Amino acid sequence: MRLFIAINFNNEMKSALIEAQNQLYDAGVRGNYSSEENLHLTLAFIGEFPDPDQVLDIMESVEFTPFELTLDGLGCFGDNWWAGLAGSVPLQAVARRLRRALADNGIPFDRKPFRPHITLLRKAMAEHGMPPGEIPEASMEIKAISLMRSDRGRNGMIYTELGTIEAQE
Ligand code: 2AM
Repeated sequence: MRLFIAINFNNEMKSALIEAQNQLYDAGVRGNYSSEENLHLTLAFIGEFPDPDQVLDIMESVEFTPFELTLDGLGCFGDNWWAGLAGSVPLQAVARRLRRALADNGIPFDRKPFRPHITLLRKAMAEHGMPPGEIPEASMEIKAISLMRSDRGRNGMIYTELGTIEAQE
């Protein structure tokens, strides 16, 4: 099964992301917009791996305390457009620790450097490039990190949460 480790968002954060999508749409940007339930921040992409319980056990060895994430700006990788996050030392630290734990236990994952982003749409088409949109203000206290499964559905990807690790208060 196809696995990745991610942060899922509360409704306030999702509303802000949807507002950003709506602004892009209203500015004439077309493409495959991520559905509300698919908005997330990936910390590590594992890909095909048969044993999610083993991954969850390894994730449990990574400790973190609650930390704040704040939306900040728009960016793109080619025609994948995303919302960015304000620089966060705790986010970088927990992603590094998770990736180190995966590596130490021989779990394969995409080693490309961690560039935190929330994909808003893929295959973006815009006559005048990226419009100068404001991303609505939103922040969230992160208290859980999830192991996710990704399946190809009839109408796009379906992401299912298989388990979470919780922050130590
Ligand atoms: P993306 O949104 O930038 O495509 C599920 O596919 C999640 O894992 C997405 O958030 C995706 O990021 C991310 N991801 C990271 N590396 C990936 C890879 N090599 N292949 C597919 N998805 C990857």
